[in-house]
Amino acid sequence: MSQLVGARLIGVGAAVPAAVVTNADLEKLVDTSDEWITTRTGIKERRVVSEDETASGLAIDAAREAIAHAGIDSGIIDLIIVATSTPDNLYPSTACMVQAAVGAARAAAFDLEAACTGVIYALAVGQQFIGSGTFKTVLIVGVDIHSRFLNWEDRNTCILFGDGAGAFVMQATDGDNEILATYLRADGSGGHLLLIPNTGAAYPHAGTTPPKAMHRFLHMNGRAIYEFAVNAVPEAVKAACARAGIRVDDLDFLVPHQANQRIIKAVAERLGMRPEQIVSNLDQYGNTSAASIPLALRDALRRRQIVPPATCALVGFGGGLTWGSAIVRWTAGT
Ligand code: UT7
Repeated sequence: MSQLVGARLIGVGAAVPAAVVTNADLEKLVDTSDEWITTRTGIKERRVVSEDETASGLAIDAAREAIAHAGIDSGIIDLIIVATSTPDNLYPSTACMVQAAVGAARAAAFDLEAACTGVIYALAVGQQFIGSGTFKTVLIVGVDIHSRFLNWEDRNTCILFGDGAGAFVMQATDGDNEILATYLRADGSGGHLLLIPNTGAAYPHAGTTPPKAMHRFLHMNGRAIYEFAVNAVPEAVKAACARAGIRVDDLDFLVPHQANQRIIKAVAERLGMRPEQIVSNLDQYGNTSAASIPLALRDALRRRQIVPPATCALVGFGGGLTWGSAIVRWTAGT
């Protein structure tokens, strides 16, 4: 279906907790080393929430930064979508909490869950609402605080994740459509490869019987997710480029989900992209799940790696399994 109205990104923002956990800190918790983590993942440090910080708090901070960057009054926002796997509560949704805090009085609001691909799914949904003419201004937030579900005695998982939030403001445009295409996929048969079990209503008597802590940790088959990612990410970028009517060679930048520098490098090689075209801040933040793509884009704009106008492939993969890409022509001011 052709888009009736074009959509573009006009603002980006991010927020992370203040507390830094370095690889040296992790050496004191599990049998690991800075050398192993650095060479196998590219991560040097990550941010972790304190006891009184929440996903909604980070989401609100990232949203405020994106709204300021866009230079809009929050009263004009029509829709807020928050992509998260770690909401404060089952309800109210994190999106409703953001709506109240930023003063987007007339906005509809809902959460969306597609794990680390959540922000790509949210961009695609927002684009549909704008394309149909239903809404003009959409706020999208990706936020996750996986530290609350990590087993800090499991070296296979605790070294990888960090907490954070990232946000985009998307708006209808009279000019060219600058969200050139999106591509979304899922394969539920791989759900067991990356999951946080016993956190929903399937747990018997969830209201009265707290599950044993061990049963609520993030579980991951790292090798299988690695293999999935190095195939799924190039597939998504190529398919989204084909939908956009451009070649992969026409891309200026790749903004991948920040999970592992070796995955990012392998994907870049498969796509024939040069190192300077690849956006990464994994060393500072680890895998921030639904936040990682806007957080990486925000930092690339700040350090002027990306200077508009630039055609960027945003691409995510993660639990579900889910994966997807959005081809974005970034022209908004930095
Ligand atoms: O948003 C998506 C989220 N998930 C991902 O993207 C994960 C994708 N997968 C990965 O990033 C990698 O598979 C990992 C970083 C998780 C693991 O790297 P790997 O190269 O696949 O290592 P491996 O699991 O094959 O383990 C190799 C060795 C094992 O020891 P043995 O059996 O060879 O003696 C592990 O026990 O490394 C050991 N190991 C560690 N050693 C030191 C695993 N974790 C650690 C650690 N420190 N933290």
